[in-house]
Amino acid sequence: MENIIEVENLTKNFGSFTAVNSVTFSVKKGEIFGFLGPNGAGKSTTIKILCGLLIPTSGKASTFGFDVYRQSEKIKENIGYMSQKFSLYPDLTVEENINFYAGIYRVDPKIRNIRKNDLLKLLELTENRKTIAGLLPAGFKQRLALSCALIHDPPVIFLDEPTSGVDPVSRRNFWRLIKSFANSGKTIFVTTHYLDEAEYCNRISLIYDGRIIELESPYRIKKSYEERFNLKNPTLEDVFIKSIENYRAANNEF
Ligand SMILES: Nc1ncnc2c1ncn2[C@@H]1O[C@H](COP(=O)(O)OP(=O)(O)OP(=O)(O)O)[C@@H](O)[C@H]1O
Ligand SMILES: [Mg+2]
Repeated sequence: MENIIEVENLTKNFGSFTAVNSVTFSVKKGEIFGFLGPNGAGKSTTIKILCGLLIPTSGKASTFGFDVYRQSEKIKENIGYMSQKFSLYPDLTVEENINFYAGIYRVDPKIRNIRKNDLLKLLELTENRKTIAGLLPAGFKQRLALSCALIHDPPVIFLDEPTSGVDPVSRRNFWRLIKSFANSGKTIFVTTHYLDEAEYCNRISLIYDGRIIELESPYRIKKSYEERFNLKNPTLEDVFIKSIENYRAANNEF
């Protein structure tokens, strides 16, 4: 299975409002695939569909070969999901939070303990294992949420704005880890508002108004904007702003 995620003409309506509008893309094994877009663009909705948490209105989507309409339980076994408002139990300790998630995923206790120690070490939480989660600083909470999402060793990881509110050094360390997971063959689907982070992605998709308006590697996307719009050494931020302006002009939204 080369494509770990496959999406074709995927649409999600909430009443008469279209949150995701006929998007098509696929994500390969070991890829870091980024979703970038303004608030309300449809990023979290797409992630929830791919995690088997939300049924689409129309179109096709599968994660790890499992269909989002019919096989959502199979999907959940094979993914790690860090939601935008990550769900930790603030009155449980670091270790108790991890144990709780391991329980949900029915991880064998012996394997759980080995993985837990590895994750605590990798995410530099060993010294905090007895700390109440609610008392941790933001960057620590984020690393704990990631540990909880990884305790069942899933091949596919969905991260919805994993670094919002986290300081720059912690963000950089976080991305080093994400890179190492991808290098070990895990597939990462991530959303972010930080354009410096988008540079770590193998490919990025700009999403606006529920539609994908660009999909390329950061390098290629910058090159194509340089040529198309005569921009000099554009940054991803330049591209992002230009792409939305261009889309709105083309759709008479001004
Ligand atoms: N359950 C729901 N019922 C009705 N509307 C919804 C629901 N969930 C999301 N929406 C709407 O769909 C649109 C897309 O929401 P979504 O959460 O996917 O955006 P997003 O790109 O993740 O934005 P953000 O960057 O703010 O997280 C928004 O206008 C939102 O209000
Ligand atoms: Mg969101």
